[in-house]
Formats: sequence, C-alpha cells, structure tokens
Amino acid sequence: MQLEGKKAIITGISKGIGKALALGLLEKGVSVAGIGMTAPDYQHENLQFMACDVRNFQALDSAMQQILSGWNNEVHILINNAGLGYFGKMEDISLEQFDEMMQVNVNGVFYASKLVLPHMKKQQYGHIITISSTAGLEAYPEVGVYCATKFAVKAMMGSLYQEVRYDGIKVTTLYPGSVKTDFFRNSPGIKPHDYMLMPEDVATAMIQVLETPDNYHVVNYEVRPLMPKGPKVK
Ligand SMILES: NC(=O)c1ccc[n+]([C@@H]2O[C@H](COP(=O)([O-])OP(=O)(O)OC[C@H]3O[C@@H](n4cnc5c(N)ncnc54)[C@H](OP(=O)(O)O)[C@@H]3O)[C@@H](O)[C@H]2O)c1
Repeated sequence: MQLEGKKAIITGISKGIGKALALGLLEKGVSVAGIGMTAPDYQHENLQFMACDVRNFQALDSAMQQILSGWNNEVHILINNAGLGYFGKMEDISLEQFDEMMQVNVNGVFYASKLVLPHMKKQQYGHIITISSTAGLEAYPEVGVYCATKFAVKAMMGSLYQEVRYDGIKVTTLYPGSVKTDFFRNSPGIKPHDYMLMPEDVATAMIQVLETPDNYHVVNYEVRPLMPKGPKVK
C-alpha cells in the first residue's frame, strides 16, 4: 500500500507502540485517528483523537462514525493496538483483572474490526493489523490469562484473513516479544530495559508490512529481541 494520503485508525495512541506508530504514519503522510482513553501529548494537522474505551461497543461505534463521516466513509488501515496485561499466579489474578484483559484485548479487537470491515469491504481494500504477542504463540507461567487473550486474537485474525482476502483486505497479526513501554506497570516483577525491543522499531516493522505490494500478504509476523538478556559476558 502506498501510504501517503491513506486513513488509519489506531486504538491506544497515548504511549508505547501505538504512539510510535501514530507518529511514524503521520510522517508518511497518513491521516491518523486515535481512539483511546488518554489523549496524546503530541499534535499534528492530520491527527485526531476520540476519547473512548474500546470495551464499550456503543461508544466505539459512535467514535468510528464520527471519524468516518469526516473521511468520506473511507478507512484504509485499522491497527488493533490497545491492550494490557496483569501477570501473576492464576489464583492471584482477580476477576476484575481477568475481565479487563479479556474485554480490552479480545472484545476491543472484535468490536473495532467488526466496525471497519463493512467499509473496507465496500472499498474492496484495507489492512487490519492486530498486535498479539509472543504470549499468543506459547504459554508462560504467571501469564496465563494474558496468553489466553493473545491466543484468542491469533485465532480470530487467522480466521478473518481467510474470510476477507478476496475482498482485497489484508489481516496481519503481529507477535512481538518484550517491548520497552509502560506495559509492565502492572507486573512488578518485570522492569522495562534496553535489551527489550524499542517501540519505534516495532512501529517501523508495522509500517513495512503496510507498505508491501497489494498482492503480498504478511499473515503472521513474529519479532523478538535478539539478545533479551544482553550480550554474553566473556
Ligand atoms: N510491551 C510489550 O512488551 C508488548 C509485547 C507484546 C505485545 N504487546 C501488546 O502491544 C500493545 C501495545 O502495548 P504497549 O506495550 O504499547 O503498552 P502501553 O504503553 O501500556 O500502551 C497501551 C495502550 O493501550 C491503550 N488502552 C489500554 N486500555 C484501553 C482501553 N480500555 N480503551 C482504549 N485504549 C486502551 C492505552 O491507552 P490509554 O492510555 O488511553 O489507556 C495505551 O495507549 C498491547 O496490545 C500489548 O498487549 C506489548
């Protein structure tokens, strides 16, 4: 996809990967609409923000309608980025934490995708990227519920790409290893560090995926830090 002039919706642009991607796409000449609970601390003439919790389907629908009415009902890109994790032993995860992870990481992805799909089908063109995680590829101890949410979107998107490929819509699932963001605020055992992936590099990878030729489809994309614990000590 040639990115200049395209229109992209990103969930969660206040920080981390979503912020890096919004800035990267704006630099490429893309109009970006961010949907999230916290407004971004940066501005751009092609950036708009809609305050909305992705867990609320009605609010998301109305935010999307507002965005699309200003865009002549066109949307080329959806990035399902909003997400969060609480880590800990299964019996220590509260019902509220379980529900929040499921609703943001799974329901939010379903809602946003469901809302853009009719427009993309009408256009016969579009690209949905969903950020899963390496925790969506393999299970880790004390990450069980988060893993379940990220396995769920792998399945959802793996099915969706086969439903819409002949409508000219690409569906990519990204599986990053640890990224140096605020994501680990709910996991006291893990501190972000410089041997994690950088959010700007993950954003660049997504932009490269978006820029691939129309008949070239990256379905699953796994990225990990090469040396997550730093170089070998000699
Ligand atoms: N960091 C990692 O190691 C890592 C690795 C693999 C995958 N991921 C995934 O990458 C994605 C981005 O994570 P990140 O590392 O950039 O984390 P982050 O810095 O904590 O950013 C998460 C974003 O999600 C948004 N968000 C959370 N709950 C929301 C809700 N209910 N409604 C709307 N927006 C909501 C936040 O917006 P508000 O500020 O408005 O709440 C924020 O912009 C997530 O899906 C995460 O699971 C992260």
